[in-house]
Amino acid sequence: MSIVGADAVDAAAASGRLVVAAGDRVTPLARDRAAELGVEIVEDEASSTGTGDSARASVPANAARDSLPRVDLSAHGLLPSPPVPALFRRGAPYPGLRGRATPAPASAGSRSRPTAGGGRVNRVTVVGAGNVGTHAAMRLAETDLVDEVVLVDVVDGLARGVALDLTHAAGLLRFASRIRGESSIEAAGRSEYTIITAGRPRQPGMSRTDLTATNAEIVGALAEAAGRVSPDGVIVVVTNPLDEMTELAWRRSHLPETHVIGMAGLLDSARFQALAALASDGRADTVSGIALGSHGDEMVFPASQARIGSESASARLGDRFPATVDRARDSGAEVVGLLGKGSAFITPGLAAARMVESMIRGDGALLSATVRPHGEYGIDGVYVGLPVRLGRSGLEEIVSLPLDAAEVSALREAAAKIRARVSALPAAVTGG
Ligand code: NAI
Ligand code: 2OP
Repeated sequence: MSIVGADAVDAAAASGRLVVAAGDRVTPLARDRAAELGVEIVEDEASSTGTGDSARASVPANAARDSLPRVDLSAHGLLPSPPVPALFRRGAPYPGLRGRATPAPASAGSRSRPTAGGGRVNRVTVVGAGNVGTHAAMRLAETDLVDEVVLVDVVDGLARGVALDLTHAAGLLRFASRIRGESSIEAAGRSEYTIITAGRPRQPGMSRTDLTATNAEIVGALAEAAGRVSPDGVIVVVTNPLDEMTELAWRRSHLPETHVIGMAGLLDSARFQALAALASDGRADTVSGIALGSHGDEMVFPASQARIGSESASARLGDRFPATVDRARDSGAEVVGLLGKGSAFITPGLAAARMVESMIRGDGALLSATVRPHGEYGIDGVYVGLPVRLGRSGLEEIVSLPLDAAEVSALREAAAKIRARVSALPAAVTGG
């Protein structure tokens, strides 16, 4: 058995055909590369048994995924990956978190389609070299899609220390991205993407909203600096309370609203998928489901969009479905309670990096993100978690999922509550 990687696909690009032996394992990244280059992966007939991996390898790349039972995932684009062995190379997306470019669901009021292609970018700046920022930077370096990842922190030496530690990881993870630490956004320099994680995390007993006053001062000033230093850049906001901080960052950055996006729904969706898998003895990559609304009490998990394999998740889980949704909604507090200090950081960091990765690659994945709709789902002019596709310059499309009336109403209620909280932010902080 050999491992067939993307380099083998590159080498076969000229002929358009890559022959593998029965039992060879083709990595997920190689399959993606083959799909990109139009290289057909075929099994050497002499060694074929016609079963298992062999059968998968004898069809065009990515057709294995397409040959899975056609569950209603086109409704949200979160296709499960085929049960490939756990082979990940640097740059390989996480199957559980990723969606593939599927035909867009009927999309009333959609913006333009995602940009095709993708590639590398010069610089991503991660502001806040704490827990979330470090994990986001590490994953971004690992994808090797960025020439330079710059960490910024107010604490003297922290960003430089983390950057040096992460630089050492190149020896293990074999990435080529350079990592730099700085104490200001200005020193980091013009960046295609800026992830803002700076601020205080939750402590036991604190709600996300308790962080508002402190973090608003921090995020407002940083967004202003990011907009000034990178006027064509995209900002991904992570700092809590997420919905309000995203609106604030947009206002203070003076960037177009499509260039300022909040990360929360991707994390909350991942939590639901992982917990539903635990509740059903399944694998997270067979679970689909999307978290919308606010990153808080008004989080909405539309049952109409949740599947385990080909079954409705609510039918499969029965009474455990609402319990799973509640646990996913409260996962942030559950982790805070267990850690005793600070809040979740591994999956949040990965989710922020995944959003940037989707933009760089232009992969058209359907993700949940906090964006500013104009009439989509009957919501106007307030940041709220919605299903989207991202492109090189941020928001490309708000996707219209076939939600039922109660789900749409819950989304509108979430937007109304966020709007009220945004209105309560002092004008001095929001920039008027
Ligand atoms: P952390 O305390 O580990 O890191 C925050 C870092 O920001 C610290 O190193 C601090 O020195 C730095 N910082 C503070 N002010 C700064 C400034 N003006 N400029 C540059 N750096 C500054 O906190 P952690 O765990 O990384 O969380 C960061 C934020 O992300 C928190 O607000 C947390 O609530 C939020 N969060 C949001 C999630 C989401 O789904 N949106 C999920 C997890 C965390
Ligand atoms: C979380 O959901 C605290 O928002 C953070 O883990």
